[in-house]
Amino acid sequence: MSRVINFYPGPSALPLEALESAEQEIRDWRGTGMSVLEISHRSQEYVELHDGTKELFKKLLNIPEDYEILMLQGGASLQFAMIPMNLLSEDETAGYVITGSFSKNAYKAAGALKKVYCAASTEEDGKFFRIPGKKELSMEPGSVYCHLTSNNTIFGTQWKAFPDTGSVPLICDMSSDILSRRLDFKPFGLIYAGAQKNLGPAGVTLIIIRNDLVEKSGRDLPDILSYKVHAGKNSLYNTPSCFAVYMMNKVLKWVEKKGGLAVIEKQNEKKAELLYGAIDENPDFFKSRVEKESRSTMNVTFNLPSGELESEFVSEAQKERIIGVKGHRSVGGIRVSMYNAHGLDDIEVLVSFMKNFLSKKG
Ligand SMILES: Cc1ncc(COP(=O)(O)O)c(C=O)c1O
Repeated sequence: MSRVINFYPGPSALPLEALESAEQEIRDWRGTGMSVLEISHRSQEYVELHDGTKELFKKLLNIPEDYEILMLQGGASLQFAMIPMNLLSEDETAGYVITGSFSKNAYKAAGALKKVYCAASTEEDGKFFRIPGKKELSMEPGSVYCHLTSNNTIFGTQWKAFPDTGSVPLICDMSSDILSRRLDFKPFGLIYAGAQKNLGPAGVTLIIIRNDLVEKSGRDLPDILSYKVHAGKNSLYNTPSCFAVYMMNKVLKWVEKKGGLAVIEKQNEKKAELLYGAIDENPDFFKSRVEKESRSTMNVTFNLPSGELESEFVSEAQKERIIGVKGHRSVGGIRVSMYNAHGLDDIEVLVSFMKNFLSKKG
């Protein structure tokens, strides 16, 4: 059976090469006579894979020496709680920039644990269609960090340049655009991402944390919630999500083989240009509610003139083996999640489908 064009928002399409390589090794990994699903996480083979995955992250993302890389479980959502638990004491505070549902969840989790405040919000009638401008951010003196979400998976908005908060480090949820573009680490104290979009399958969360924050972390916390403990144990305090790390390793090698982040970034820009171009060409039929400067290169959201047409679009797309384009239940409309694994050819097929649909129904 041939593969579909999978635009699901996450878990989402993985590079075919990574899947094929895993398929070949599923019964006998590296001549061990075992699958990576079966081998001990304390074995030399697994530890080499684990450390090699961290090295690949360092190389591809150009991560400076003073950052620690953690690979934990619990998803990005656990980080919503671990960040304030580890980095804020009872009398400290931090600002949260609210640009979508997940940043709202992060703020809510932090608010249940510590004293945090909203540094900016772009919510209008329960929806978020833009990223705030520089002047909209209002940081309280003494803030320990400023939390933001680099790409809003549900609404389809993305920070193009990160705000300057001076000496206050940014803490950023990059779940849906990590590894999609080059990154300057300077403003960031901590970056985290659930793997299930650009990195691999669900089950592992990447955390890149500056050493001084690791040192500060973990006061009075159970070991399992402490960055300091996880960093001290090389993310092997307890059993890691071995298979997810293994798949992530394959995806990273694929990125490396393609030429690294500069190449990936260019490809993502081209894909976005093509799809937004098709939307903008027919604004009476394909209606983008997202402010142009805030448009995401990863998740493209738009509406059609009616809910009926949107349902038809989704089902007609499915007939053409284009899957996963239904908008999130909280927003409706259409959402195309085009992560790194999608080549320009997938977007060309989609755009051609959109043009045909328009000529029949427009
Ligand atoms: C930007 C963003 N943050 C957080 C999450 C939640 O991630 P998880 O399901 O890994 O907890 C998601 C999930 O899609 C997301 O897109």
